[in-house]
Amino acid sequence: MYHNLTINIYQNSIQELISFITTNNFSKIAVIVDQNTQLHCYSFLVNRLPEHTTIVISAGEEYKNLDTCNQIWQHLTDEAFDRKSLVINLGGGVIGDMGGFCAATYKRGISFIQIPTTLLSMVDASAGGKLGIDFQGYKNHIGVFQLPSYICIYPIFLQTLAKRELRSGFAEVIKHCLIADAQMWDDIKKFDPKDLVNKDFNWDFIIQHSIQIKSKIVETDPTEMGLRKILNFGHTLGHAVESYFLPIPAQKLLHGEAIAIGMICESFLSFKQNYISSEDLANITQFIIKIYGKPLISAAEIDKIIPLTLQDKKNSHGSVKFSLLKSVGNCGFDINITADEMYESLVYYSQL
Ligand SMILES: NC(=O)c1ccc[n+]([C@@H]2O[C@H](COP(=O)([O-])OP(=O)(O)OC[C@H]3O[C@@H](n4cnc5c(N)ncnc54)[C@H](O)[C@@H]3O)[C@@H](O)[C@H]2O)c1
Ligand SMILES: [Zn+2]
Repeated sequence: MYHNLTINIYQNSIQELISFITTNNFSKIAVIVDQNTQLHCYSFLVNRLPEHTTIVISAGEEYKNLDTCNQIWQHLTDEAFDRKSLVINLGGGVIGDMGGFCAATYKRGISFIQIPTTLLSMVDASAGGKLGIDFQGYKNHIGVFQLPSYICIYPIFLQTLAKRELRSGFAEVIKHCLIADAQMWDDIKKFDPKDLVNKDFNWDFIIQHSIQIKSKIVETDPTEMGLRKILNFGHTLGHAVESYFLPIPAQKLLHGEAIAIGMICESFLSFKQNYISSEDLANITQFIIKIYGKPLISAAEIDKIIPLTLQDKKNSHGSVKFSLLKSVGNCGFDINITADEMYESLVYYSQL
């Protein structure tokens, strides 16, 4: 099931993509877009792709659910897609995760290609084969592991991405540096937050770097039995924060924004375990707040966020397991943390 991924990060690789598609002689092709990627990204592909149908879904995390999967499966069924057909996911992490999930389960699995259009999906979500949807408020609760047949990255798509989305995607870049590359952490620490929302920023290097780190980890542990868990640094509390605010429109956080809060809290836990120094904790905290500001979390909200970690997918036998920094650039996993310690970490954040 897991084979080497082909990842192209060059604008001119469109020819290779087309030749991959024609060589494989797919019976039918569907391109999944949301309203935004239909408007901004689809024109880049439409005349180059062989005959295909488009499936347009509503944009946003709140549509990453079974209802939207129903629409996708219905469309494939109505157009009699068979097992030799292809789905192309043209969008951010929501389309990649959900379109991939629909493809991986339709008739027990058809081929799919990821063409990520957000920074977050270019540096993280499109690679690694985790697919899925949210369920009853729990993030990525239903899903499968299945690698795409092909991933194509065109940084040009970032030109139309909202600044807030660009900044959100950078959280996964910070994560990759903190868990695996102390030298690169030293470099990005010097970035001015204004650079990160500059459309002309040279993202190619950053994308390559993140993909390399992620691919190396995923290759050694594709189904997250061990080491791959380090990619969840910041995500245990981050997902709980994201899930908590998801149904509250005024406070809704983007994935990366929630993970940024999660990384501060989990760096605090790393410090409390005597893994990282107080100076490291201060550097991480200051850098993240400089970029993302500090969304408020009240004491009453902390009480509601903590139980949400009980659904985290790394848990086993009823205990909440964290991936924590052993040092900057090095991460451990399966570290038991109590509810009191989680509470303390969110209080640390809220009192900053
Ligand atoms: N599978 C994984 O390993 C993995 C890893 C990280 C995150 N994720 C998931 O990814 C999701 C978040 O992904 P995201 O941040 O890409 O969100 P997203 O897919 O919702 O995209 C963000 C917004 O940008 C719009 N958009 C996308 N590309 C655009 C472009 N080029 N120009 C203009 N607008 C554009 C979208 O329509 C959407 O409104 C979450 O559901 C998260 O759980 C998955
Ligand atoms: Zn993430």
